[in-house]
Amino acid sequence: MAEIIVVASGKGGSGKSSFVTGVSRALASQGKRVLAIDCDIGLRSLDLLFGVTENVVFDWGDLLLDRCEREQALIKGDIDLLAAPRNFYSEFTPEAVAKLFKSFSKDYDYIFLDGPAGIDRGFQLAAAAADKAIVLSTPDSVCVRSCSRAFDELRRLKIEDVRLVINMFEVKPVCKHKLLNIDQCIDETGVQLLGVVPRDINVGYCSVTGTIPGEFSPSTLAFKRIAKRITGKRVPLVCE
Ligand SMILES: Nc1ncnc2c1ncn2[C@@H]1O[C@H](COP(=O)(O)OP(=O)(O)OP(=O)(O)O)[C@@H](O)[C@H]1O
Ligand SMILES: [Mg+2]
Repeated sequence: MAEIIVVASGKGGSGKSSFVTGVSRALASQGKRVLAIDCDIGLRSLDLLFGVTENVVFDWGDLLLDRCEREQALIKGDIDLLAAPRNFYSEFTPEAVAKLFKSFSKDYDYIFLDGPAGIDRGFQLAAAAADKAIVLSTPDSVCVRSCSRAFDELRRLKIEDVRLVINMFEVKPVCKHKLLNIDQCIDETGVQLLGVVPRDINVGYCSVTGTIPGEFSPSTLAFKRIAKRITGKRVPLVCE
């Protein structure tokens, strides 16, 4: 049965979709069966990051509304994908969405739910299906505060297993006291650290060119470490 992990941040643009893409690739390269579900209703992006936009005909909303078969909504690849619906429907209740997402559990090792910005309706739907959560923050005070708010909300929803990933980490500005350091991010959010992803120009470049960052790019190495930690292996939090 898959572990279902929602990726949230509170603030938009912190790198949730990039993280889901990178860590899913890393897990797939370790032989894990991964399903990524785009939960950013109306603003989907995972199909773009996975380079499969032309293959999207149906989405999980169609599946929930009985407008298509499972095989039609599921976009198969090294990592399988369910695209996000374009609109909200009254049928998208937390119970119905959780039941649908959990019905894929037996076919995968990991299911990632790419959450939307904010902690309202779309976030609540994604969180309803999740066993665990990863909250993502860039190392700036505004993002860290919104991440902390998302953490509180996840706990209110009874998701106890929550880990922090610091994304777009840079050493230089931290030294100049412009950004928070790793310890400050942990203290401010109160969440146990899962990993740190450096700011890496390859992430943005590859998302627009539809390519995959190189094997030794800083973000790929970070995603591999985080993937190993997700599978329970003991590896250092950050690169030496
Ligand atoms: N580690 C990184 N290094 C450099 N750029 C990054 C990194 N992670 C994400 N980005 C860039 O930040 C931007 C936002 O990333 P992304 O779309 O993944 O964020 P998001 O949290 O999913 O946004 P939204 O809340 O709108 O869904 C993109 O341009 C992406 O390429
Ligand atoms: Mg996103």
